[in-house]
Amino acid sequence: MEELRIGILGYGTVGRGVVTLLQEHGEAITHRSGVRLRLVRIATRTPSRDRGVDLGDVELTDDVRRVVDGDDIDVVVELIGGYDPAETLVRDALNNGKHVVTANKALIAEKGVGLLDIAAKNGLELAFEAAVAGAVPIVKAMKESLAADPVDRIYGILNGTCNYILTEMREKGLSFETVLADAQEKGFAEADPTFDVEGVDAAHKLAILAAIAFGTPPNFSGIHIEGINHISDIDIAWAMEMGYRIKLLAIAKRMEKGIELRVQPTLVPDSSMVASVEGVFNSVFVHSAYAGTTMYHGRGAGEKPTASAVVADLLEIARNKKVGAKGRVSGLSVLAENLKPLEVLDMAELEGEYYLRLAVVDRPGVLADVTTALARFDISVDAIMQKGRSQKDAVPLVIVTHKTTEKRLQDGLKAIEALESVRDKPRFIRIETGFA
Ligand SMILES: NC(=O)c1ccc[n+]([C@@H]2O[C@H](COP(=O)([O-])OP(=O)(O)OC[C@H]3O[C@@H](n4cnc5c(N)ncnc54)[C@H](OP(=O)(O)O)[C@@H]3O)[C@@H](O)[C@H]2O)c1
Repeated sequence: MEELRIGILGYGTVGRGVVTLLQEHGEAITHRSGVRLRLVRIATRTPSRDRGVDLGDVELTDDVRRVVDGDDIDVVVELIGGYDPAETLVRDALNNGKHVVTANKALIAEKGVGLLDIAAKNGLELAFEAAVAGAVPIVKAMKESLAADPVDRIYGILNGTCNYILTEMREKGLSFETVLADAQEKGFAEADPTFDVEGVDAAHKLAILAAIAFGTPPNFSGIHIEGINHISDIDIAWAMEMGYRIKLLAIAKRMEKGIELRVQPTLVPDSSMVASVEGVFNSVFVHSAYAGTTMYHGRGAGEKPTASAVVADLLEIARNKKVGAKGRVSGLSVLAENLKPLEVLDMAELEGEYYLRLAVVDRPGVLADVTTALARFDISVDAIMQKGRSQKDAVPLVIVTHKTTEKRLQDGLKAIEALESVRDKPRFIRIETGFA
């Protein structure tokens, strides 16, 4: 029987999942393609560490070159993560004539164009379904199922760690720090959670999705990124009271003059579907001209969900091999020569409604001072709420604005901050309505 000979780089969480899926369901997978997926070798930094898996005759080594350069390897599965040495290893594997499957979103978002170019020139696949939202089959859906339909908007929850933290904060009324520590203990957050809580991980995924949707090279550096580390339980409680939930949303929109790319904590109506995505789950909503809104939901991380996507990519390569197909679908859906850089719209000029929370002195006339300061920048107020007793001579004042640009909002906030009756720095969070 024909074989696809596999070498894995990195034997951590996802690596282990890939090995067990191939072991447990290898036969059924072979039935789908008529090509046997044979794991030949795994290279990892610490081969001696026990992973509780019987590898049989699969070679385990600390020499990554035995995978990347090995004559007995057809496809390299890169599961080390990060840029270095992953980028060099992927490039070398492609230059050596090997297909590559990776779960590495940072690599595809920031170095993907060059690597996909090498793959295309050599008639090879560089597949990365697992890099965006783990098991959620969004890359394939956008590259194939929605390929004919112009997409104008993608939004969603692309980081399970942040969504878990925000959900727990809301349900249990706990602070960000308390929930983060608990999430780390339970394995839902990394020991170093920076990339997750600062929005970088979601932005890597958004860069990839926007590239596929709009036929443009991934533009990670163009994304406006805000994390959830400044979200307080007080804001979450206020949002609930007003009929909203706070979610870390990733949004890409095709506008007349360019594209909007942003990752930021956002108030979304309680009744929207995106609000109901809770815990570690990921959800992507795609709006396209003919299909309307379609939704993709599932587990965005974890050993087994991520392995599911990695092995599906391997199966796709096996199927292509069976029929002698090469480069059937371009890496980013659009042919490399047709990718067009698009202008990213300046966040300062984007319009939106905003939630503001101030701490103000509890005395008459303060409300008028604040609304007058906002009015100087053409910001009108939709609602004002004040509740609770004075603490340290200040009371919370919550304002919902009508539509304004971020630039005007920032100017208005500076003016408010300068008022003698305002204590602390005002907090603000964008509001998005009109979602599915
Ligand atoms: N975990 C998830 O749920 C998930 C979900 C989606 C995507 N991903 C992506 O999948 C990739 C792997 O993630 P993971 O969670 O499996 O990471 P992980 O558990 O940290 O595993 C990484 C593996 O790479 C090995 N490694 C690190 N540096 C190496 C080097 N220089 N040479 C050889 N091996 C090296 C490590 O070696 P030793 O253990 O042998 O020391 C470890 O086995 C990342 O790109 C990640 O973003 C992960």
